[in-house]
Amino acid sequence: MFRLVAKRSFSSTSTNLRKVAVLGAAGGIGQPLSLLLKLNPRVTDLRLYDLKGATGVAADLSHIPTNSVVNGYTPENDGLSTALKDAELVVIPAGVPRKPGMSRDDLFSINAGIVRDLATAAANNCPNASILVISNPVNSTVPVVAQTFRKLGVYNPRKLFGVTTLDSVRASRFISELQNTDPTKEFVSIIGGHSGITIIPLLSQTKYSEEITPEQRDALVNRIQFGGDEVVKAKNGAGSATLSMAYAGSRFANSVMAGLDGESDVVEAAFVESPLFKDEGIEFFASQITLGKDGVERIGELGPLNEYEKGLLEVCKETLKKNIKKGEDFINNA
Ligand code: NAD
Ligand code: LMR
Repeated sequence: MFRLVAKRSFSSTSTNLRKVAVLGAAGGIGQPLSLLLKLNPRVTDLRLYDLKGATGVAADLSHIPTNSVVNGYTPENDGLSTALKDAELVVIPAGVPRKPGMSRDDLFSINAGIVRDLATAAANNCPNASILVISNPVNSTVPVVAQTFRKLGVYNPRKLFGVTTLDSVRASRFISELQNTDPTKEFVSIIGGHSGITIIPLLSQTKYSEEITPEQRDALVNRIQFGGDEVVKAKNGAGSATLSMAYAGSRFANSVMAGLDGESDVVEAAFVESPLFKDEGIEFFASQITLGKDGVERIGELGPLNEYEKGLLEVCKETLKKNIKKGEDFINNA
């Protein structure tokens, strides 16, 4: 016999309503990321925007019985402004992905303009939102957003994040494969930026620092730095990481919201405006940050680096400086 079961309420641990906009929501990352955000009880109002297809994705997700409304928008009828109006979190995976043989920097000529235009709309419609930039090259697109916001007088460095979580995600997985351990319990601090040699895993700070041989270390560092290429190659022209990125983006978005909700000790790596190497002309740098009610709450020290890691850092800084300047120049010289 059919029995009515008491309806379990989908209660949220959060005290605040969260309006979240995903820009590029119908894409390879956008769709699974939107799904994960639809499942997140912190999100109450999910707005999906893309050049096309976002209304279909939203209609699909809207049938999932979680405690949020979801709507899709396209450029018609001022869809971008409507999607962004008073949003508290804006996640940007809009833009083109790599094909084999390309570097992330090769995406700049197309993606910088896309990110600039979306940032301009965000500055006009939700100037206080936390902006999470996924679009590559992150080392340059984050400065593009910063300069765009600066120009419009609404830049808040505590609320702009380049999403580098995928590097941490990969590092946990790859080190667990080497050590035959539970990947969910592994943590590697990643600093620098989000492209090849700018990604620096601090293996000396893991519990395996003594047992990993120099050969294993070199292979592991290389795999973490070029994990993205592994996926680009395997997808063979059909794009880059989307599902692992959706997981990573959803994890980072949840951490930002946990911080906004006042939870304590919320720590993630991200590419943010940072004091760490500002005196060397490097305005943005990825490291472990504590997230709080107003965004970035604290940027900690890097901790001890061994000679090998100091070498990686020097090489990283050279490239990072150029990447950041390229993003800033794109707006300043427009
Ligand atoms: P995709 O081509 O599958 O999707 C991109 C989406 O962006 C498309 O639906 C497209 O219509 C949309 N788009 C393009 N211009 C737009 C605009 N002006 N406004 C709104 N939407 C727009 O690509 P993808 O695989 O989802 O990757 C997206 C981006 O994320 C790429 O730049 C990729 O390099 C980057 N990425 C970053 C990381 C990271 O760790 N930060 C990881 C993976 C991919
Ligand atoms: C990644 O690290 O997977 C992304 O940055 C996408 C890419 O181009 O590799």
